[in-house]
Amino acid sequence: MQTICLILLLVVVAALGQSDFKALLELRKGFEEDPSGKVFDSWDSKAMASDGCPQTWYGVICVNGHVVSITLNDVGLVGNFSFPVLAGFKMLRNLSVSNNQLTGTISNVGSIGSLEFLDLSSNFFHGSVPSGVAKLKNLVILNLSSNNFEGTVPSGFGNLKSLEYLDLRHNSFSGDIMSLLSQLDNVVHVDLSSNQFSGSLDLGLGNAIFVSSIKYLNISHNYLVGKLFAHDGVPYFDSLEVFDVSNNQITGAIPPFKFVVSLRILRLGSNQLSGSLPEALLQDSSMVLTELDLSLNQLEGPVGSITSTTLRKLNISSNKLSGPLPATAGHCATIDLSNNMLTGNLSRIQNWGNYVEVIQLSSNSLTGTLPHQTSQFLRLTTLKISNNSLNGDLPPVLGTYSELKPTTSLGKLPLQEVHDSRENLSLGSLPGDLPDGLKGFDVSSNNFSGEVPDNLSRFPDSSFHPGNSLLSFPYFPSSTKGSPALVNLKGGRYRMKPAIKIALIAGMVGAATIIALLSMVIYYRTHWPTHGTRSSKGDERSEGVQQEEGPSISSSIINKTPSQFTCTT
Ligand SMILES: *[C@@H]1O[C@H](CO)[C@@H](O)[C@H](O)[C@H]1NC(C)=O
Ligand SMILES: *[C@@H]1O[C@H](CO)[C@@H](O)[C@H](O)[C@H]1NC(C)=O
Ligand SMILES: *[C@@H]1O[C@H](CO)[C@@H](O)[C@H](O)[C@H]1NC(C)=O
Ligand SMILES: *[C@@H]1O[C@H](CO)[C@@H](O)[C@H](O)[C@H]1NC(C)=O
Ligand SMILES: *[C@@H]1O[C@H](CO)[C@@H](O)[C@H](O)[C@H]1NC(C)=O
Ligand SMILES: *[C@@H]1O[C@H](CO)[C@@H](O)[C@H](O)[C@H]1NC(C)=O
Ligand SMILES: *[C@@H]1O[C@H](CO)[C@@H](O)[C@H](O)[C@H]1NC(C)=O
Ligand SMILES: *[C@@H]1O[C@H](CO)[C@@H](O)[C@H](O)[C@H]1NC(C)=O
Ligand SMILES: *[C@@H]1O[C@H](CO)[C@@H](O)[C@H](O)[C@H]1NC(C)=O
Ligand SMILES: *[C@@H]1O[C@H](CO)[C@@H](O)[C@H](O)[C@H]1NC(C)=O
Repeated sequence: MQTICLILLLVVVAALGQSDFKALLELRKGFEEDPSGKVFDSWDSKAMASDGCPQTWYGVICVNGHVVSITLNDVGLVGNFSFPVLAGFKMLRNLSVSNNQLTGTISNVGSIGSLEFLDLSSNFFHGSVPSGVAKLKNLVILNLSSNNFEGTVPSGFGNLKSLEYLDLRHNSFSGDIMSLLSQLDNVVHVDLSSNQFSGSLDLGLGNAIFVSSIKYLNISHNYLVGKLFAHDGVPYFDSLEVFDVSNNQITGAIPPFKFVVSLRILRLGSNQLSGSLPEALLQDSSMVLTELDLSLNQLEGPVGSITSTTLRKLNISSNKLSGPLPATAGHCATIDLSNNMLTGNLSRIQNWGNYVEVIQLSSNSLTGTLPHQTSQFLRLTTLKISNNSLNGDLPPVLGTYSELKPTTSLGKLPLQEVHDSRENLSLGSLPGDLPDGLKGFDVSSNNFSGEVPDNLSRFPDSSFHPGNSLLSFPYFPSSTKGSPALVNLKGGRYRMKPAIKIALIAGMVGAATIIALLSMVIYYRTHWPTHGTRSSKGDERSEGVQQEEGPSISSSIINKTPSQFTCTT
């Protein structure tokens, strides 16, 4: 009897194994292209072990005849992915085919009750999510992001008691957001962003478990309306760290988030929020908020002072805020208050401290001038104060308001800065002269006067104009229209048109460049016994290029001006 049982069991096991094996071969038939060859080369019908498991098949883990995991991420597979052929899998726990070019719909998935991890992200799956998904009681992670799914999310998500991560972002799902959210309870990460969900966010007492477990909730870029937490106020989020509701049509006032003590990132930008700025978000408190984005709303009233020691990034641009600039900036690195109705003296920024890297105050009604202060703003990289009513001088010390990096060696100007910079940013002169930390600078549409400090003259004309008609440029004419490829701005400032710059970079490829550079080096060696010798003025331009671009010089430029590798100091 025992023997018979054993034999029966073995037969059953083998038969099951056989069916998993066959199903995988069936699945493979749907794949049209496999650029890496990983699947096509290894998924071989002959490679079956005695337990009915395929051997050494790429991405397949099989135990005792049962496939437990299929992981085919990032292999560039093109073709159809047939869910129905997987319907018989009894032990499949992982199915992950992220970032391929697979198409298909989710069907019959409900029969794979063993699934714990389902990741179809970044493919071309389409259709709606079948109600069968609700049968996946073991599912922990469901990632359908970046596909072409549509329709409403079925009811029954409440049955998914193990679900922790739900990522549906970048699809075309629709329907009332609460009909989905109200079903969830033990989740920690929910991303429904960039879909077409509608309705209003009304989490409250009814969702106690959800509210206490959720850490990351991103419902940005949808069609949500109404007030935030209209009924019960801000729920007692015990764990919430990231909350992003930006790019919706939320109205009403910003609720105080003061009891949400774990909140690090709060983004409510691009809605129709009104009322005043909740002071608690900017002030030193028990909150640990590091990023606050309330831009593109209808907020009114004063900004108040920023005393928070955790806040690093504050963006309240494009509102209707009024009153003076905040007297202090806490520990903020980025402060964007542009496009508001702020008034009063710009000199209030002199107390904004040593943490600030980016200041954007353009398009307000600020008056006064830039503070002449030496010790502040050591980390400043961007200062944009255009379109205000500022006047007075641009203090020379501005040019040193930046993280000074010692630049002594040739071509030290960091590549990154060249890429970050605006089109017309001239590339500096002899390294060592200029602080190179300040990357963004814009004082246009004001009424500054006097001379542009030497250290600021590297910024493009658009940093100063329009406006500022009384500002004079010590080293170069304010208009460079119709300028030649390289404009000699004397004193070692050079400016190249972007298109030509690209052409120059492209031109560096090839032997001609190498030969030219070699001859240049030889020229240096033979004609330049002492370092720092001056040459006649008219010959400075390609020296400037040499300093700026290092080896990325086209041979034609070098060949045109072979005797000009001079050093201006
Ligand atoms: C994939 O599905 C499409 C449409 O159902 C079909 O035309 C095509 O032949 C299938 N490709 C493979 C390799 O099965
Ligand atoms: C399933 O995938 C998860 C995440 O990639 C991994 O941690 C786990 O080990 C996998 N389990 C199996 C059985 O392959
Ligand atoms: C879902 O997949 C995308 C793309 O593969 C990935 O970036 C994202 O982190 C995944 N989401 C979760 C919750 O694991
Ligand atoms: C929320 O989702 C949007 C769109 O998918 C994304 O750009 C944004 O970075 C996410 N927000 C956070 C805080 O992760
Ligand atoms: C602030 O938000 C606006 C609008 O969302 C955006 O354009 C701007 O780049 C943001 N500012 C900073 C400094 O990130
Ligand atoms: C300048 O600011 C005003 C509001 O102060 C705004 O209406 C106008 O569009 C801004 N101009 C530019 C060019 O940004
Ligand atoms: C701005 O403040 C500075 C320094 O406190 C002061 O010298 C200047 O007169 C003020 N300008 C205006 C327009 O109030
Ligand atoms: C600009 O400033 C000068 C003095 O620096 C002043 O005479 C002039 O009236 C100002 N112009 C405007 C439009 O405020
Ligand atoms: C430019 O900045 C450098 C470095 O701080 C400084 O030594 C130099 O004096 C400045 N030049 C001018 C003209 O302000
Ligand atoms: C760059 O400078 C040219 C002429 O000097 C001007 O026409 C153009 O608008 C500038 N571009 C930017 C982005 O400032």
